Amino acid sequence: MISHFLKKIAKFSPVRSTLFFFYGRAASKMSKELAAYIAPGNHVLDLGCGTGIIAGTVAKTLNASLVGTDVIDIRQVDIPFVLYDGEKIPFPDKSFDIVLISYVLHHVEKVEILLQEARRVCRGRIIIYEDTPQNLFHRASCFFHGFSYGSLFGIKKKCAFHTREEWLSLFQKLQLSLMHTQKIKFFNPVHITARNLFVLSPDVS
Ligand SMILES: C[S@@+](CC[C@H](N)C(=O)[O-])C[C@H]1O[C@@H](n2cnc3c(N)ncnc32)[C@H](O)[C@@H]1O
Repeated sequence: MISHFLKKIAKFSPVRSTLFFFYGRAASKMSKELAAYIAPGNHVLDLGCGTGIIAGTVAKTLNASLVGTDVIDIRQVDIPFVLYDGEKIPFPDKSFDIVLISYVLHHVEKVEILLQEARRVCRGRIIIYEDTPQNLFHRASCFFHGFSYGSLFGIKKKCAFHTREEWLSLFQKLQLSLMHTQKIKFFNPVHITARNLFVLSPDVS
């Protein structure tokens, strides 16, 4: 029902233009960062694809074959999509060269289970973008972001934001090998925080 409402307001032209302007900007920047990891023809899963704007741009720019999955369908771009329950990723083992998880994990209730699932369906790299608050100001911004997301989507579960170091120790605990990490410079005027990219190998080290 919420996704139906979101789809309706997104049809309203100024909302749609704003959405495409902000997500489009993020998507082009992300495509450049991902070019080092996604080769033409790679099979990519966008886990928690949301509007699909990022997925659509990445697929087009990097010539990848991409499918999105999410717990709700709020696509604004016609990408191949499978709705799922948020826990059991509906694909066989090692189906994807890349599993992209972009600004999703802080919304997820059972993060460890989802990361294990991402590992199961991945034969190449798991690529994660996350908000990684570093100070009180970032924490306040993350709190507001989580609160507005929860209100908009009618979700009671509070978002769980972690620092870069906390994510690194979780990946280590799950024996996901860290291949690369970098700070992401991206100015979002309505959500100011630090952000990180993590590139993981699903193989047990
Ligand atoms: C901030 S949006 C990010 C959307 C998109 N990845 C992007 O970067 O534009 C967070 C998304 O995570 C999705 N989500 C929440 N819990 C999830 C879960 N357990 N598995 C997959 N997606 C989930 C939400 O439905 C939402 O579309």
